[in-house]
Order: sequence, then structure tokens, then C-alpha cells
Amino acid sequence: MTIPVNMDLVPEVSGYFDEATNTISYIVRDPSSNHCAVIDSVMDIDYAAGRLTYDHADNLIAEIESKGLTLDWIIETHVHADHLSAAPYIQQKLGGKIGVGSKIMVVQETFGKIFNEGTEFQRDGSQFDKLFEDGDTYMIGNMEARAIETPGHTPACMVHIMGNAAFVGDTLFMPDGGSARADFPGGDAGVLYDSIQKVLSLPDEMRLFMCHDYGPNGRDIQWETTVGEEKKHNIHVGEGKTREDFIKFRTERDATLAVPKLIIPSLQVNMRAGTVPRDEKGNPVLKVPINGL
Ligand SMILES: [Fe+2]
Repeated sequence: MTIPVNMDLVPEVSGYFDEATNTISYIVRDPSSNHCAVIDSVMDIDYAAGRLTYDHADNLIAEIESKGLTLDWIIETHVHADHLSAAPYIQQKLGGKIGVGSKIMVVQETFGKIFNEGTEFQRDGSQFDKLFEDGDTYMIGNMEARAIETPGHTPACMVHIMGNAAFVGDTLFMPDGGSARADFPGGDAGVLYDSIQKVLSLPDEMRLFMCHDYGPNGRDIQWETTVGEEKKHNIHVGEGKTREDFIKFRTERDATLAVPKLIIPSLQVNMRAGTVPRDEKGNPVLKVPINGL
């Protein structure tokens, strides 16, 4: 199936790199209005101290305010395991709807069990304003955006396409970075390969914006490439790499990777759309399940 695109529509994209987690957050602006979306925001955490701060999010907010933009959407490409979302903090200051893939319910079911959440934790995605189904469209000002299901890294991963720009979340990294791991609960290397092929079926000139970059081999941080570049040069899925190659490589590699440093706070907060859970007295607290992950 061909994914409908409008390559003549060129949104203004600004990336903001978070050094603590190697995450790139984006402000995407409709070229024909003052409306914008934020993609994959970051809330700062000092996990050792149990302290949350908002420098990265405040910077995004200041950018949006200084340009006089209206924030329509706050998008999560998936439930991140390596950083905390600042979506509710940004929403409180600027408005906008928080959206994620509808398979969030699968993620909530899985991690609801691992974190031994009680019945007050809803597993129906109701913490989010919008749950996207595959192919759903939504508007940022006059610009149509489209959400495409791309599971494999996690069940709820989606790629968001806006004109000639696609925000790939953790399906792909820069060509020299390859792809994201597929060994989290609900992840699957073969499914990830198929999702990546969906992204690579977009036009060669489609601009791709990464959610992460780690500057492999000492190069400077980068976050923008194209479908054509990924097809030619991606070290995990580029020319000549088969599905079988990918599954074998990904599975072996994932077995060597350490658990992400912030997975425990990230999942508890992000599966609640960026809200910190509270104890019976209403105090914000995080759990550490022992041998649960
Ligand atoms: Fe991720």
C-alpha cells in the first residue's frame, strides 16, 4: 500500500538536542499559518536525587512563545524508555492535544503488570487526548499530518508524516547509527524490519528526522537525513541487507546492550502521558520493581 504524501508542502522544522539523553525534540510549523506541533519533548530528571526540572521544555516553550505560534499538538512517537516526556508541562503552559499510537494500551497492559500498578492505573490510553490508528490524519493549522504504525521497537511506535518531513521516532537512526533495539517487552526485530521498509517506501527525497543520535565514531550529532540516504547507506537495513540478516544481527546485538539508565522512571511516567504517579496521600513517587524488568 502506498502511503499518501504531499512533497510540495515543506514544514519548518527546528530540532532541539537534549545532551543528557541524546534525544531530539522538534517544533514543526505549518508554513502557511502560525500553528505548530511539538514532537517528543523531554522533562529533565536527576534520578539519583529524585528531582524533576524543566530546562529543556522551557526552552521549547520560549521558542514557541517568541515566534507567536499556536501549539496544536504534542506528539509522542512512542513510550520512550530513555527519557521522560514533558507533554503535560508544555500543555499546561501552551495548550495543545497530547497524542500517541492506540497500541499504547498494549504497552500499558505490559508495564502495568511489571510495575504492579493497581486498578487506578487505566490501561485504556485515557491519559492521552488522542490515540492514533494507522493512517489517521490530523491538522496542524492548514497542514495535514498523518500517523503511520511502525511497531517493532515497541508496539505503540508511530511515524508522523507532515508534508515532506517524517518524524521516525525510534524506527531508524542516522545511516551510520542503524536502527533501535527491538528487545523491550513487546518488541520484535522482524516486525521492526517490516516497519522500517514502510518508512523506506516513502519518496527518496522525504526528509527524515531522528528521535535519537549518539554521534557514532566521534562524529558531531546529526538528526536529519532522507529516505534515499537511508536506503543506500543505513548500516543495518541499507542496500543488500535482508530481513534474515537484520533479525540475526539485531537479536545478537540486543543481547549485549545494557538496560537504559532511565527506563524505570521513563516507563512509569510516559505510559501515563508524562504524568508522575502518586501514592495514596497524593505525593508524586516512582517505584523500582526488583528483578521485574
Ligand atoms: Fe525509544
